[in-house]
Amino acid sequence: MTNLAQAVAPSLVAPQPFLKWAGGKRALLAEIRLRTPNYTGKYIEPFLGAGALLFDQAPDARKVVSDYNKDLVEVYEVIRDNPDALLAALRTHINDEAHYYAVRAWDRSPDWSTRSKVDRAARFIYLNKTNYNGLYRVNASGQMNVPFGGQANPDWIQAEVIASVSDFLNQKASDGSFLTTVLTGDYRLALAHAGAGDWVYLDPPYADTFTHYQSGGFTVADQTALRDEVLDLTAKGVPVLLSNSDVPLIRELFGDTDIFHIDRVQVRRAIGATVASRGNVDEVMVNNYAAVGI
Ligand SMILES: C[S@@+](CC[C@H](N)C(=O)[O-])C[C@H]1O[C@@H](n2cnc3c(N)ncnc32)[C@H](O)[C@@H]1O
Repeated sequence: MTNLAQAVAPSLVAPQPFLKWAGGKRALLAEIRLRTPNYTGKYIEPFLGAGALLFDQAPDARKVVSDYNKDLVEVYEVIRDNPDALLAALRTHINDEAHYYAVRAWDRSPDWSTRSKVDRAARFIYLNKTNYNGLYRVNASGQMNVPFGGQANPDWIQAEVIASVSDFLNQKASDGSFLTTVLTGDYRLALAHAGAGDWVYLDPPYADTFTHYQSGGFTVADQTALRDEVLDLTAKGVPVLLSNSDVPLIRELFGDTDIFHIDRVQVRRAIGATVASRGNVDEVMVNNYAAVGI
């Protein structure tokens, strides 16, 4: 039976990220808006994360987004399809260390695979909002292993934000299809949808600011392959904006000034595993706009 007092309220706030996410783009929204072309086709964001930029797009534009973190993508699906049940499940959790560790341990129990999508999504949001610094980290067996955060007042329920994001994800085209397509998998899946008139925003795991090379499992070969995908998109006339850290590897990969333009931007980063990885950092925004005629 539905408890009306706990049903999803009409959305009173703008759709916005409901997770803390490493590399979240909220702090860079103004810089990104300055570099957003007037696209008439689809918005394509293959490294979705917490989706700061997705929610900044016109509600009536078609969007194709993806992330290879299938647990994360499942959360978006549950918010779209089952927000009332999600909110009810979120409300069963409390900000308590023993409860946190008990919920974290669900994925170590034999009945984990039988948990409902709604329960798994609520757990994902709850752990993200009450854990240490919003980190997402799993061990070699794929089990969450981030410690409890011990924050005074974390808000893992965010009823208005969930309602607003649910409305956003439920926007439909005149043919009845969802305007936002959310895919699970490698970034190339989303890029396969890109064509003339679209705009692609790429926010891959960044090259490490200290070693200048691999971080987040994204190797030099991965950064190079992504650059090659941008070259293919350029050949198809698709405008691309890419974020990364300002390190020699990225400047070298995108060093062809006939094709790429690089801007340096400074951003304050609050999520990092170590104190050294937080604070003001230099990032780059690379675009191919001149090469595709805009
Ligand atoms: C820097 S974060 C994106 C942050 C996002 N722009 C935001 O505002 O929250 C990079 C994302 O890419 C995802 N990812 C990593 N490798 C991927 C791949 N090969 N294909 C698709 N997604 C990938 C990660 O799961 C992570 O969510």
